[in-house]
Amino acid sequence: MKRQLTRVGVLVSGRGSNLQALLDACASGSVPAKVVLVISDKPNAAALEKARAAGVEALAIEPARVGGMRQFEVQAVTALKSKGVELVCLAGFMRVVSPAFLKEFPGRVLNIHPSLLPSFPGLDAQKQALEYGVKVTGCTVHFVDEQVDHGPIVIQAAVPVLEGDTVESLSERILEQEHKIYPEAVRLFATGRLKLEGRRVRILPPSEWGE
Ligand code: GRF
Repeated sequence: MKRQLTRVGVLVSGRGSNLQALLDACASGSVPAKVVLVISDKPNAAALEKARAAGVEALAIEPARVGGMRQFEVQAVTALKSKGVELVCLAGFMRVVSPAFLKEFPGRVLNIHPSLLPSFPGLDAQKQALEYGVKVTGCTVHFVDEQVDHGPIVIQAAVPVLEGDTVESLSERILEQEHKIYPEAVRLFATGRLKLEGRRVRILPPSEWGE
């Protein structure tokens, strides 16, 4: 029996390179999922164009225009549900989602962050890592919980900090890893291999789906 594709909604605010990585991985068949809706809080986000270029519905909902973040979330949830979204991926979405939003998609919201959490949560993670002087940083895909950059960790990739690194050069190398681990996390989710046990995410062995 052929497995149904997991329906994914992606929330973005900017460039959309992680969105593109997800779109490409789904299109290539390496991830048994389909991005069915992209929502941005910024109407001019380049990510919206990337979605449309891939034939995916792209929606801009500006919090300031709809009466605030609560209304943004109400509209986003309605749109995501109407598309039958089963997994929500935050990909450079520069807002904090509320407990009410998370309740609509329990254990079904992922985020990517450009550091090895719990080090350097919040903004400018690459700059924080450089300024702290760590020799290794990286990126993390995690389930979203009610605290910022805090939920159970699915996958991490380490990236060495090199002599002479700038925020830009370090960010670029971290981004290469982000584009690998986010699709991989979605693949594991879509194939039913992620099991949440408190703070820990167990990665189950490959199943009869040929995984
Ligand atoms: C990435 O570094 C991601 O980890 C962070 O925001 C950035 C988004 O980049 N949350 P892009 O929009 O996916 O290119």
